[in-house]
Amino acid sequence: MTASQLHPVQELGRVVQAVERPRSLTHALEILAANPAVQPIAGGTDLLLDLHRGGPGEPVMLLDLSGLAELRGITINDGRVRIGAGMTHNEVISHPELPTVGLPLAQACLEIGSPQLRNRATIAGNIATASPANDTISALLALDATVTLASLSGERTLPLDDFVTGFRTTDIEPGELITTIEFPAMSSPEDGIWVKLGNRSAQAISVVHLGIVVDRDVVGIVRGARIAIGSVAARVVLLPEAAAALIGSRLTDDAIKQAAEAAADAVSPLDDVRATATYRVDTIPTLITRALTAIREGLSAAAWPARPVCLTVTSHDRPCSEDMASISDTTEIVVTLNGQRFTAPGAASANLLDWLRDEASLTGTKEGCAEGECGACTVQLNGRNVMSCLVNAAQATGAEIVTVEGVAPGPDDPHRIQKAFIDEFAVQCGFCIPGFIVTGTALLEEMSDPTDDEIRLGLSGNLCRCTGYYPIIQAIRTAAVNVT
Ligand SMILES: Cc1cc2nc3c(=O)[nH]c(=O)nc-3n(C[C@H](O)[C@H](O)[C@H](O)COP(=O)(O)OP(=O)(O)OC[C@H]3O[C@@H](n4cnc5c(N)ncnc54)[C@H](O)[C@@H]3O)c2cc1C
Ligand code: FES
Ligand code: FES
Repeated sequence: MTASQLHPVQELGRVVQAVERPRSLTHALEILAANPAVQPIAGGTDLLLDLHRGGPGEPVMLLDLSGLAELRGITINDGRVRIGAGMTHNEVISHPELPTVGLPLAQACLEIGSPQLRNRATIAGNIATASPANDTISALLALDATVTLASLSGERTLPLDDFVTGFRTTDIEPGELITTIEFPAMSSPEDGIWVKLGNRSAQAISVVHLGIVVDRDVVGIVRGARIAIGSVAARVVLLPEAAAALIGSRLTDDAIKQAAEAAADAVSPLDDVRATATYRVDTIPTLITRALTAIREGLSAAAWPARPVCLTVTSHDRPCSEDMASISDTTEIVVTLNGQRFTAPGAASANLLDWLRDEASLTGTKEGCAEGECGACTVQLNGRNVMSCLVNAAQATGAEIVTVEGVAPGPDDPHRIQKAFIDEFAVQCGFCIPGFIVTGTALLEEMSDPTDDEIRLGLSGNLCRCTGYYPIIQAIRTAAVNVT
């Protein structure tokens, strides 16, 4: 069969020929100015799939933003929340104050993909992709967020509503990078909420998602409101008519009903694989009513978990280094792999999963889907569990990596999770179980006494295709008991 006879989904996507690793934001902007075709990459969870699914094309050069110190950090002062473009969804979720001052954003981040995905994916990447289904956009629009972009000519800040210009389009100019996302700190978490309707409770792209923030006076009368909704139009949109229905009210049933009806009237969604347009329109009044009622009753944060599961064992970033400025397939990259120094080429064009299997001959890590959906490829990267199929291998330069081969203390001394999987008959196939073992290990390092809900949340990025979840959950319970 020749290449031209391949079905489009069988065709290889664009090859990454080099990954530039800038030392600083200024260095990154210089690279971008010199070569506007260079594609910025943060977590890579959207970009690597886009390159792969987009079919053949010119080789591409990536600009690795991960680890740039200037894009890190969350600050809250002068009533403003500032989030660096390099911050991941899990870093937002686990920030001690964000669930108070930016509850809708924290709620949106918690619903994105799986814990492994949230350890890589950034908010900046989410808004830059600008899909109508991207969850943080409705939260940030409701929070009245602004986006700051930098180029060698300087900085500019614009409202998020102007930054997103249409279906997967933004106002980013050539040579610009997002540096900060900023919004006014909410005075109380009870003033806002974000909700998602999906076809399952994890790894689900939104059928409808919406964010609401209200501003109430001392006696509880609404004097301002912002309602944003996604997955119902070409882009995530604000609903000014629905918000206006709340002004002057104490969120009475009548005002909520008017807002809910105005919201459903304002959108004209399309049918797609996730839901019909009719279903979407019919659910909007219910979603808005429940969300506003929760705000009125002071229950918007009621479901926020006491300790969100992030599968983050220790959090440390790779330092920016001058000795690895540009990585091609001939460059030998160095990592610490299961406690040993390991060096090999071939990283620029490979994802971390393939690089570990092909270059390091560690075949315990499996490819189940190659799309971030199944968790078979889970490894620990710099103390955080990630889907290795969605990490460009060059981004792992200098990293500490633990694979399933590295979780046991020794060859004849299995990890307690491995013992428990054997004892509880949880080892059902060779494809999924390595990922479950790496996930279970991180979960028990993150919290030694997980509840059943926390075990389920921890495992939400790992699929068992034979649906044998009961022994898997039991094995993790058993391993937890064996240590406490
Ligand atoms: C299995 C799976 C499940 C998912 N589930 C969800 C979900 O439930 N909800 C949801 O909203 N999304 C979901 N996503 C989408 C994805 O994870 C997010 O959009 C993610 O936040 C993108 O961030 P990133 O850091 O990975 O971006 P990348 O993939 O690195 O980049 C995405 C785009 O942003 C650009 N970019 C990144 N950073 C900058 C910057 N600082 N300046 C300028 N441009 C920049 C890149 O050039 C690229 O065009 C899912 C993805 C997968 C694979
Ligand atoms: S999530 Fe990586 S192979 Fe399925
Ligand atoms: S453990 Fe692999 S299919 Fe269930």
